[in-house]
Amino acid sequence: MEKRITKAIIPAAGLGTRFLPATKAMPKEMLPILTKPTIQYIVEEAVESGIEDILIVTGKGKRAIEDHFDNNFELEDNLLRKEKYELLEEVRASSRVEIHYIRQKEAKGLGHAIWCARKFIGNEPFAVLLGDDIVQAEKPCLKQLIEQYNRTQASIIGVQQVAEEDTERYGIIDPSEKNDRSYRVRNFVEKPKKGTAPSNLAILGRYILTPEIFPFLGQHNIGKGGEIQLTDAIQQLNSIQKVFAYEFEGKRYDVGEMLGFIRTTMEFALNHEEYGREVENIMEELLLTRSSLVLKT
Ligand code: G1P
Repeated sequence: MEKRITKAIIPAAGLGTRFLPATKAMPKEMLPILTKPTIQYIVEEAVESGIEDILIVTGKGKRAIEDHFDNNFELEDNLLRKEKYELLEEVRASSRVEIHYIRQKEAKGLGHAIWCARKFIGNEPFAVLLGDDIVQAEKPCLKQLIEQYNRTQASIIGVQQVAEEDTERYGIIDPSEKNDRSYRVRNFVEKPKKGTAPSNLAILGRYILTPEIFPFLGQHNIGKGGEIQLTDAIQQLNSIQKVFAYEFEGKRYDVGEMLGFIRTTMEFALNHEEYGREVENIMEELLLTRSSLVLKT
């Protein structure tokens, strides 16, 4: 019988050390790109892709995420009385989806976080969306992968090409056959050392996986960085059933590190409906001032 993808896991247990001190008392997933926390972009993509149930794997100090996706009657009442209907709608929208939570009790890596969700998933295929990767696309990235799954009923990993010098930062695939945007894969390698990457096709935070991955995650094998790696379990899964990679369409933003975060903020600000033009003027002004200062010195 054909199976549908209705459940998604969003791991959000990371410590966010790259953004300290901002993340001392606030989850990194709540850092905003303009007025929306990064995790809301991810949740919206899941919902737009047809996901019905989302499980967020949290950890210590992540309460603000639960509050964000909850009702806030006091705030809503206040906005209603002030007739701020647009804001009210924005506030309500974030509490409309069904979200479940589980805590990862120890920081043992991405593979372990996904393993924590095994009872929620049961015996169904499911999606994983990583919070560090925001993808803007005409058709939501996850939806593109789900459509592939519906054709093949096999696991699909979302990939895109990255610069040669960046391959050591990602899970990389060793592709064998290519068919349109879809690849058969020989090997999945987590963060290969410089100069050893089998390709420049990187895993970028979107996965469709079959439940047969769980026994492999349950082996708790330690991989790169001393952590239980999802990529390693995918490689094991690939030895018992087909796992495809799919080069998705869309622009991916890395909000998990400082420069990526700044670039995303700048680009989203430039594209902002109301403030975009003004932001462009500000940027031009800043750059002009800088270059005239450089000329003077
Ligand atoms: C994780 C995965 C890696 C993937 C990356 C995408 O790494 O382990 O395979 O390429 O996300 O962002 P992390 O960035 O969490 O170290």
